[in-house]
Amino acid sequence: MRSRRLSYRALTQTDAAAVAAISGDWDVARMTARIPYPYSVRDAESWIASVGDGTGEFVRGIEHDSVLIGACGYVVDADGAAEIGYWIARSRWGQGFATEAGRALVGHCFRSAGFRRLTCCHFTDNPASKRVIEKLGFRLIGPAAGWSDARQHEAPILRYEQWRTWAYYLSLRTARPAA
Ligand SMILES: CC(C)(COP(=O)(O)OP(=O)(O)OC[C@H]1O[C@@H](n2cnc3c(N)ncnc32)[C@H](O)[C@@H]1OP(=O)(O)O)[C@@H](O)C(=O)NCCC(=O)NCCS
Repeated sequence: MRSRRLSYRALTQTDAAAVAAISGDWDVARMTARIPYPYSVRDAESWIASVGDGTGEFVRGIEHDSVLIGACGYVVDADGAAEIGYWIARSRWGQGFATEAGRALVGHCFRSAGFRRLTCCHFTDNPASKRVIEKLGFRLIGPAAGWSDARQHEAPILRYEQWRTWAYYLSLRTARPAA
């Protein structure tokens, strides 16, 4: 994955303190499904270890000027679609970083990973993520309820999808070596 201002890399245990600092912010954790609150360095170490254990979750740390500012990635659902997600350190909000990383991730999913369909969702009290999802070109599927580890209850969400277009399909064929 590549984009203009940001670089992307696998997380390692040395990132645990930075991950805990970013994800341990209530305003980050409460907008996600699976970040508990409070969130310790040990929680971050366990999560980073689980990401690398081959269970199918794809995660990339997002760096700006060599500083970890967030993460993005996907899990594969039962239908074979990739559900994407992202979070950015609160001090870095409002600079277009989530949109830039999201575009890089969507491109990676369609071009390199070969997914035909992507999904994503946001809690209805998260207008910033709604806007990012709109800018990434997702189409609204409809309302649902989603669990939040931080809130410890379900809350209303909106679900979205995006299908691979011909442009991505052709670039996928171009990118693959001839059989
Ligand atoms: C959602 C999140 C990733 C956005 O990160 P970001 O880097 O600030 O996003 P961007 O700067 O790329 O875009 C944010 C957009 O939301 C808009 N926005 C921000 N707050 C808003 C609000 N309260 N109401 C409406 N729009 C809002 C911004 O104006 C911007 O849109 P614009 O480019 O049209 O002006 C970040 O807030 C975050 O990490 N939140 C906690 C975790 C989370 O929500 N993850 C996503 C789970 S679905």
